[in-house]
Amino acid sequence: MSSSQARTRRQLCSNNFWRIVVASAAVLVMTYACHASGDQKERLAYEADIRPIIEQRCLRCHKSRLFAQGGYRMTSLQSVIEGGRSGAAVIPGDPEKSALVDRITRKASDPLRMPPIDDGARLAEADIKRIVEWIRLGAE
Ligand code: HEC
Repeated sequence: MSSSQARTRRQLCSNNFWRIVVASAAVLVMTYACHASGDQKERLAYEADIRPIIEQRCLRCHKSRLFAQGGYRMTSLQSVIEGGRSGAAVIPGDPEKSALVDRITRKASDPLRMPPIDDGARLAEADIKRIVEWIRLGAE
């Protein structure tokens, strides 16, 4: 093999090498993007992401048939959606129309805010965002 042939071969190889690197990177980025958006939906599941917040901050007063303030039991996904004496608390896909969102996003000093003023702070911003996003994604 002459030295010029060898050089051409090296060049070819290195061109191919970079082509493969770029193509692999593109595939990786696309896989990651698809995966990430898929994950987001899975991640906001009632059991894993919403129930712990409700258990910690709401259930105390919205627990049993006998003791549920406002007639609102929050013991299951179904009852959280159904709401209490004022009707549906969650409209899947429409956080703006969901009474639950209205209550948790009210000002700290608002007497209608949930959890109520005498029960401590508003929900953490991250928890409010998570609930809103969960409802937007269909409240599953
Ligand atoms: C310290 C007790 C207490 C806690 C904790 C509490 N609530 Fe309430 N909740 C009440 C009372 C009392 C009412 C009825 C009066 C009213 O409607 O404001 C009520 C009513 C509601 C209603 C209206 C139900 C209807 O159909 O009229 C919603 C929605 C609600 N709460 C959501 C929540 C959410 C979400 C949490 C947790 C972030 C929460 N509450 C935590 C006491 C509580």
